[in-house]
Amino acid sequence: MKTGTRLVTLGREAPAGNSGEQYVNPPVQRGSTVLHADVADMRERVARAARGDDGGPVTYGLHGTPTHRAFLDAMTALEGGERTWALPSGLSACTSAIMAFVGQGDHILVPDSAYGPTRSFCIGTLARFGVATTFYDPRAGAEIAALLRPTTRLILIESPGSHTFEVQDIPQISAIARAHGAISVADNTWATPLYCRPIELGADVSVHAATKYIGGHADLLLGTVTCNAATAPAMRTFIRSTGLAASPDDCWVALRGLRTLHARLERHRATAERLIEWLLQQPEVARVLYPPLASDPGHTLWQRDFSGASGLFGVELQAAIPVAAVNTLVDSMRLFGRGYSWGGFESLLIPSRAERSLRAARLPDGLIRISAGMEDPADLINDLQQGFDRLRRTISEEQA
Ligand SMILES: Cc1ncc(COP(=O)(O)O)c(C=O)c1O
Repeated sequence: MKTGTRLVTLGREAPAGNSGEQYVNPPVQRGSTVLHADVADMRERVARAARGDDGGPVTYGLHGTPTHRAFLDAMTALEGGERTWALPSGLSACTSAIMAFVGQGDHILVPDSAYGPTRSFCIGTLARFGVATTFYDPRAGAEIAALLRPTTRLILIESPGSHTFEVQDIPQISAIARAHGAISVADNTWATPLYCRPIELGADVSVHAATKYIGGHADLLLGTVTCNAATAPAMRTFIRSTGLAASPDDCWVALRGLRTLHARLERHRATAERLIEWLLQQPEVARVLYPPLASDPGHTLWQRDFSGASGLFGVELQAAIPVAAVNTLVDSMRLFGRGYSWGGFESLLIPSRAERSLRAARLPDGLIRISAGMEDPADLINDLQQGFDRLRRTISEEQA
């Protein structure tokens, strides 16, 4: 079946609630305590859980309700993995997918373009627990092997990278990790499981901020971690021992989001392309960072490993434009919101600010990030037009 058809029916196999009816979208079921028929039933359910059989009847709400199962089964099927867990945010999914696999004295490799708070977690919290991080150039392929240490346990991938949109060679990096006895974890938020399946490309773990496109309505904070068969047991132990869990309500919102994900993504990309076409005609634009563009340095890898694109991209303004003028452009937007997220129905435009450890990868001052939303593209272009007019006035006033 094609993706759009699968998105309509996925997750319906999860056990129904007490009433037993089959709803088009499984209704939310909240609950902590599960009542058992007798001691034998209690023991049987606990024994099944101890064997790792979490697909069976629930023992306690923390380990998942039928609502969790419906969403998590759908994610596992879309990602082509063994099992998925839901966490309270995308960031907690990223940090859990690292913590589950490392311990004191270990070393990990992290792309320099990784999501900022993931970077901060590695530099701060992980270091405090005795795990060392080396940042690597996200454009690196085989060169990554030279950075491996005997203690390297994990390689993080985020493709394309935050703010600078470098496409990474997921198959090659995953193969290097595996040959070394390390695991590879990919943040797949930009592509969603519809357009990239890192586990099928060789990665062990795929992570999402479901907060973005999967939720799609700027009203959800949720993360997911999908593991292959080899990594699922360690992830399960980590989740069980830390008590990390998302609410059934949030999983239900995310499952509802999945139903329309394909249609929304097509619209996000179509709008992004209209905006990019207009932006590339403006003399103030030096380049657009978007892997589907033939001119993008990651285009060939994107063509090989991705089957589509979402609507988040970067715009680099000419280096000569003063920062104050760039800020004026951002401030003058009326339809584009100024907000730290993306993937929702609302268009956003922000100045890109991100740390980098490798000197060559420093961000230019005039880099902005656009999340193309659901508004009519003509209205968005009008908004950009008045913003660029304002930018031009500011530049000529400064020059006068
Ligand atoms: C690539 C990426 N991963 C993870 C996250 C974290 O998601 P959340 O905001 O749900 O914690 C973000 C948030 O912007 C992100 O851009």
